[in-house]
Amino acid sequence: MTPGKYALYKLSAHKIFRPLTDRLFKVLHFLRFAQWVEENQQLEYNDFRADGSVYKRRYNVHELIAAKLKDEPIHYLEFGVADCETLLWWISQNKHPESLFFGFDTFTGLPEDWGHYKKGTFDLQGVIPTVADKRVTLIKGLFQETLFNFLKTFPNDKKKFISLDADLYSATLFVLTTLAPWLRVGDILVFDEFSAQEHEYLAYTHFCKAFPHIGLKAFAAANNYACVAFEVISISAAP
Ligand SMILES: C[S@@+](CC[C@H](N)C(=O)[O-])C[C@H]1O[C@@H](n2cnc3c(N)ncnc32)[C@H](O)[C@@H]1O
Repeated sequence: MTPGKYALYKLSAHKIFRPLTDRLFKVLHFLRFAQWVEENQQLEYNDFRADGSVYKRRYNVHELIAAKLKDEPIHYLEFGVADCETLLWWISQNKHPESLFFGFDTFTGLPEDWGHYKKGTFDLQGVIPTVADKRVTLIKGLFQETLFNFLKTFPNDKKKFISLDADLYSATLFVLTTLAPWLRVGDILVFDEFSAQEHEYLAYTHFCKAFPHIGLKAFAAANNYACVAFEVISISAAP
């Protein structure tokens, strides 16, 4: 700590300014996000600046990706699968018998508060949904407790479609950093709440800083950047 900062510390600046820090944090990340938006407008699909937010508009992004993948075999990994709405849509789109679909969730809802949404939101009482498709596996538990074990036997020999729909910074950053060594050029990542600047967007920026050798390119956005799709376009040797 420099002498100037030590003086501020001794003056209890952190206590005096505590009520301001959350607000400043929000403003800072909004400004950074706004900069990112300005630099990422020319996408294959982008509804910015659409009126309001229509939940179903996210499927415009998914349809674009499904069309790109046609019916090739994929490994579908969804983090925050909840009642499987998106996963069910995908199994109806991709019929390849070698495609595998993995959905991860606590099935007891969010493990911590997310803005106004309280811990436990999206609770399915711990009941894993039933999906009558042999290609689907649902994995119950915190990603932080299930993903390492899952990866021990994951073949990673097909293009991956990775859906990041856990909302939370902690969960999203954990998944991104854990999957980093498994990413391959051509893999697709979709953030479902990217415009939540202190959560998925922040996790994305921290991931990019920690893994600068993995090139991600945004190519589609719906609901004014709530749902954003990226492709892994390059992977060089780790620095
Ligand atoms: C917005 S909901 C998912 C909605 C779903 N993808 C859809 O398309 O209908 C977010 C889900 O993420 C799950 N979740 C968040 N953090 C998690 C974590 N660390 N481990 C496991 N599940 C988590 C919650 O339980 C919740 O069901």
